[in-house]
Amino acid sequence: MAETVKMGLGCTMGLRNILVGMVLLLSGAASLKSQAYFNETGELPCHFTNSQNLSLDELVIFWQDQDNLVLYELYRGQEKPHNVNSKYMGRTSFDQATWTLRLHNVQIKDKGSYQCFIHHKGPHGLVPIHQMSSDLSVLANFSQPEINLLTNHTENSVINLTCSSTQGYPEPQRMYMLLNTKNSTTEHDADMKKSQNNITELYNVSIRVSLPIPPETNVSIVCVLQLEPSKTLLFSLPCNIDAKPPVQPPVPDHILWIAALLVTVVVVCGMVSFVTLRKRKKKQPGPSNECGETIKMNRKASEQTKNRAEVHERSDDAQCDVNILKTASDDNSTTDF
Ligand SMILES: *[C@@H]1O[C@H](CO)[C@@H](O)[C@H](O)[C@H]1NC(C)=O
Ligand SMILES: *[C@@H]1O[C@H](CO)[C@@H](O)[C@H](O)[C@H]1NC(C)=O
Ligand SMILES: *[C@@H]1O[C@H](CO)[C@@H](O)[C@H](O)[C@H]1NC(C)=O
Ligand SMILES: *[C@@H]1O[C@H](CO)[C@@H](O)[C@H](O)[C@H]1NC(C)=O
Ligand SMILES: *[C@@H]1O[C@H](CO)[C@@H](O)[C@H](O)[C@H]1NC(C)=O
Ligand SMILES: *[C@@H]1O[C@H](CO)[C@@H](O)[C@H](O)[C@H]1NC(C)=O
Ligand SMILES: *[C@@H]1O[C@H](CO)[C@@H](O)[C@H](O)[C@H]1NC(C)=O
Ligand SMILES: *[C@@H]1O[C@H](CO)[C@@H](O)[C@H](O)[C@H]1NC(C)=O
Ligand SMILES: *[C@@H]1O[C@H](CO)[C@@H](O)[C@H](O)[C@H]1NC(C)=O
Repeated sequence: MAETVKMGLGCTMGLRNILVGMVLLLSGAASLKSQAYFNETGELPCHFTNSQNLSLDELVIFWQDQDNLVLYELYRGQEKPHNVNSKYMGRTSFDQATWTLRLHNVQIKDKGSYQCFIHHKGPHGLVPIHQMSSDLSVLANFSQPEINLLTNHTENSVINLTCSSTQGYPEPQRMYMLLNTKNSTTEHDADMKKSQNNITELYNVSIRVSLPIPPETNVSIVCVLQLEPSKTLLFSLPCNIDAKPPVQPPVPDHILWIAALLVTVVVVCGMVSFVTLRKRKKKQPGPSNECGETIKMNRKASEQTKNRAEVHERSDDAQCDVNILKTASDDNSTTDF
């Protein structure tokens, strides 16, 4: 900085440049923070106000990284690729409206500090008139954590599972599992394993845990990744494990119930046939009835007694009950046999 001021004084002698040198002293200390996502575009601002309305023809503008490698140079309005380091070749674009340099395809290695310099190309040579540093930090979003079951719950009350998340930066702070039941939530920590790609420098992280699963309740497992530096939490989709079914499963119960109903129907129909048969035997000895025939007979009977409310009220399931009633009351009107 002292050098800059000396240079400004030495080169020009004008009051204007002394003032510029003083402004530099004040503004040069500032450092702007900038953030970019991996593989996207970062911005390296210069924050030049151009209060003297200098045209690009009068200016020499360039950016350097912390190792003094040149990213970009604009010499009196002309791009000069000659001084640009190969690392940055073809990766930059200058936004004239905002005096900002865009750095494309940002890599983790690109994080660090950058300096922008603006010199005035006057009759007496180059005069530095503006300088700004910016700190670029680079982030990569970890993928949504993903749970993988390693064991079957049906066979074990302790299940083993893993959770993993990939391609993020910087290194996350913590990864853990949440085991939620109806009335409790427990946290299960584990040693976070991380691997870093030696080219991209992105991290993959994972944990492996053994969780005790209460058999009598439904549980929901969620994996959580706590990120740096924002402390943001990233959640996996829940992994739901339903309560173990009781020893006597409900499905056979249902079948049993249907079977019982069928038996009842058969018995009732049998009784109906029996009663009909006995009544008929008294009147006239005839052929024996089956349940189907009885129903058919009674359907005809019901046609004759349409207006009877009880017939319409009965459901299909209770058809045999309906038949019993009718058989008893309308017996003498059955003229089929
Ligand atoms: C970088 O971005 C390009 C598209 O913009 C994409 O094709 C490529 O897969 C990305 N690379 C990585 C490592 O994410
Ligand atoms: C700045 O200079 C340009 C010509 O170089 C001129 O057209 C413009 O009006 C000037 N603006 C101001 C604010 O002086
Ligand atoms: C990364 O995540 C943040 C916050 O969730 C989001 O705003 C941003 O768009 C994401 N960036 C990329 C490149 O996925
Ligand atoms: C888990 O259960 C499935 C069937 O539900 C079976 O195919 C698989 O082999 C079981 N895995 C283990 C590790 O027991
Ligand atoms: C689950 O992990 C534990 C160690 O954490 C191991 O002793 C056990 O055998 C594993 N169970 C299964 C079914 O893999
Ligand atoms: C949940 O709460 C009920 C009472 O509300 C209790 O009987 C049961 O033991 C609790 N379960 C757990 C896992 O804490
Ligand atoms: C990280 O995970 C990605 C996606 O699963 C995989 O392609 C890559 O090889 C892993 N990298 C490391 C260093 O483990
Ligand atoms: C990156 O690691 C792989 C092995 O995982 C190795 O073969 C390769 O040479 C390494 N590359 C560099 C640039 O270190
Ligand atoms: C568990 O969840 C299922 C639905 O997934 C539900 O039908 C059942 O009643 C639940 N059981 C308990 C004990 O909460």
